[in-house]
Amino acid sequence: MVHRTSAIWLSLVLGPFASLSHARSVGPRDAVPEGYRAAPYYPTPHGGWLDSWKEAYTKAQALVSQMTLAEKTNITSGVGYWMGPCVGNSGSADRLGFPQLCLQDSALGVASADNITAFPAGITTGATWDKALIYARGVALGEEFRGKGTNVYLGPTVGPLGRKPLGGRNWEGFGADPVLQAKAAALTIQGVQEQGIIATIKHYVGNEQEMYRMYNVFQPGYSANIDDRTLHEIYLWPFAEAVHAGVGAVMTAYNAVNGSACSQHSYLVNGILKDELGFQGMVMSDWLSHISGVDSALAGLDMNMPGDTNIPLFGFSLWQYELTRSVLNGSVPMDRLNDMATRVVAAWYKMGQDKDHPRPNFSSNTRDKDGLLYPAALFSPTGQVNWFVNVQADHYLVARQVAQDAITLLKNNGSLLPLSTSAKISVFGTDAQVNPAGPNACGNRACNTGTLGMGWGSGVADYPYFDDPISAIRKRVPDVEFHNTDTFPSVDTPSPDDVAIVFISSDSGENSFTVEGNHGDRDNDKLAAWHGGDKLVQKAAEKYSNVVVIVHTVGPLVLESWIDHPSVKAVLFAHLPGQEAGESLTNVLFGDVSPSGHLPYSITKAATDYPDSIANLRGFAFGQVQDTYSEGLYIDYRSLNKRGIKPRFAFGHGLSYANFTFSDATIRPVTSLSLVPPPREPKGTTPSYPTTIPNASEAYWPDNFNRIWRYLYPWLDRDEADRAYAIGVAGEKKYAYPEGYSTVQGPGPAAGGGEGGNPALWDVAYEITVTVRNADDSTHAGKASVQAYLQYPEGIPYDTPVVQLRDFEKTRELRPGESETVTLRLTRKDVSVWDVELQNWVVPGSQGGRYTVWIGDASDRLFLACYTDTGKCEGGLKPPV
Ligand code: NOJ
Repeated sequence: MVHRTSAIWLSLVLGPFASLSHARSVGPRDAVPEGYRAAPYYPTPHGGWLDSWKEAYTKAQALVSQMTLAEKTNITSGVGYWMGPCVGNSGSADRLGFPQLCLQDSALGVASADNITAFPAGITTGATWDKALIYARGVALGEEFRGKGTNVYLGPTVGPLGRKPLGGRNWEGFGADPVLQAKAAALTIQGVQEQGIIATIKHYVGNEQEMYRMYNVFQPGYSANIDDRTLHEIYLWPFAEAVHAGVGAVMTAYNAVNGSACSQHSYLVNGILKDELGFQGMVMSDWLSHISGVDSALAGLDMNMPGDTNIPLFGFSLWQYELTRSVLNGSVPMDRLNDMATRVVAAWYKMGQDKDHPRPNFSSNTRDKDGLLYPAALFSPTGQVNWFVNVQADHYLVARQVAQDAITLLKNNGSLLPLSTSAKISVFGTDAQVNPAGPNACGNRACNTGTLGMGWGSGVADYPYFDDPISAIRKRVPDVEFHNTDTFPSVDTPSPDDVAIVFISSDSGENSFTVEGNHGDRDNDKLAAWHGGDKLVQKAAEKYSNVVVIVHTVGPLVLESWIDHPSVKAVLFAHLPGQEAGESLTNVLFGDVSPSGHLPYSITKAATDYPDSIANLRGFAFGQVQDTYSEGLYIDYRSLNKRGIKPRFAFGHGLSYANFTFSDATIRPVTSLSLVPPPREPKGTTPSYPTTIPNASEAYWPDNFNRIWRYLYPWLDRDEADRAYAIGVAGEKKYAYPEGYSTVQGPGPAAGGGEGGNPALWDVAYEITVTVRNADDSTHAGKASVQAYLQYPEGIPYDTPVVQLRDFEKTRELRPGESETVTLRLTRKDVSVWDVELQNWVVPGSQGGRYTVWIGDASDRLFLACYTDTGKCEGGLKPPV
């Protein structure tokens, strides 16, 4: 059995058309619309100037200063696709004890591996709105990635953020809001990295649709054209929060931003990420998106993954031996390579991987015990590749809890739910039962057969088992009638109390696979249920008086064809539950627990309720496809509220069997705020190394070296190395450096100063408390979601969305009559706007303006308002949405 990651397929498809040369990247760019600019930003800021990374950098410097040129270029690049156990395998510096790093998908579990847990997807995790649970999932993921001997977890995903409901990979992230994404990502990173695994925030940035994302010889990847304020307040926000949480790695996106490819985007990587956000770790390319050697290094890329050019498997790289050559001939300054290597090694020390870190004990390529050590090599040695280490522990409990607490009750007319086990129940829909061919029958889950537990592409893991809904229902109601079909069958006339449970789904994934006409994005099925699911619900509703609809989905659907049907009494969105799809659902269906999930996106009445830039994918164009974010800040509920469009179910919506009231809110200022953050501290010192071109002998092949054909190495033949060195020391050949190129380190922008930006941005500005009570006469216990939305002062010179999510908490399970007081916090950044002139975060209400903090359990159910100017809170108001 062969387990493969997806990007290989896309490269094979695109391979014949992909460019081997790196001429394209330095050639003229396609024109982008007026006003969207990718300004040059050089040089790459050195890493190591922050105290939080000092120790790691001190150790890294000691190690890197002993490395030869070839050792440095080796550790900054992969050794080639399928040249080791993991989806990405870096080169090593064995002589000094620096190992090959194993970089492994996916954000929801160890990909292509045995004996792991297939956790619920990001979107499901976001739907819990439960910080403790999100963190617990991160810890469990980190334990499994460590147990399998990986070094780098290729997650979490916050780009796409979910701007386009049709976008193929939205489900890998946590929801269509920057704050929900940011907090969930930060907690995941914390949980993972505490286990000694480097987390990777991805994809930086603007990867909001799948089609046309890749560069090839005919067409550049699309350009996400994002203005400065929108970038800062929406798309960059989760990345900033991830950097603030200490994330060790960032993966660039396939696409371009404002005309420049993300993997060589000096403004995004050097400027924003490494200077403004003060990122101290390493920046890697997404797989096979490396399209220039020198330019990408100068633009701040630190690691090329998986090492190959964008046509893999021929043994060509734009780095490795080419980076060695570029340093010898003086094109890439030694200073830059030193920083690249130091960043990689510092991330490794930061997570403590120098001490007892396990080596990979699994193979992404086979489940056999023995196999090829370098599967992509023409003649590979063989050996043991799988040790079948079970890393599951009791993580199924975390997985099940997340799946369960994400289940979102959208409608429950006449309190049909919870169901009684004595009801006569009929189940309809193929989504109720696991794929008959087995849960992993489709590689990369690139099919929608049986219960949908995850989307498709590289963001998946293999199920160790699959607890499907129908088995779990049968455990409760043994004589349940199951119609494993998506076409409504002929059934006897039900009696009025009989219940029909109808399962429907909607799938999406990565562009490397097309499933039922959907090219990653939901471009074929759009916002309809797959396999005629909407019709199935309608037919069931014509026959039965009590219909419960269960939806497994990657994102929103338009439910209008059946949602108002009087027989459709209850609707549960179970999102993408992973392996624990069954019991998590029956616990809610039969009332062991109340549903407590809330929507991580809005559900509109029509796709066209959003402006065209959001509602539609960008179609084919000659040259670069332009994906212009003309809606600015106004995505999801921000867009609907601005235009006064009522959704069917608003962002944050979710019902419970319990009956909560919110009362006794308080607000208190914690830190008084000036208009802009106080001046940042100057940067601390960074490691320094000799910057002269190293001796050519540091690049010579070692004597008697046994080369694996097509494996990527950092060495050059003697004459090549000597020639490059001669050019370099003579200073003869001057590379055609990009516009604005400089080698002088700068002080960094005012908005910077710490991890994620100026440290004062995380000062708590206001603390809010609210008491949530489950009513005395409530019939069920339950957990409540408390959401805080901010309304900016009137009359400020900035256009701001009506309300924006700023914090959230979830109560413990409250029995009837029990209450809990929860605390929510707003930071300086939360009450700021990004001022494009000042290039800083500005608090527009710092002169006593009134911010209103709305507290509720959905973006359109805002029960209480607290005012920052008077410090008072009140209820019973008409909210602004
Ligand atoms: C491509 C995907 O975009 C990325 O998310 C993934 O981590 C890499 N391939 C490796 O599989």
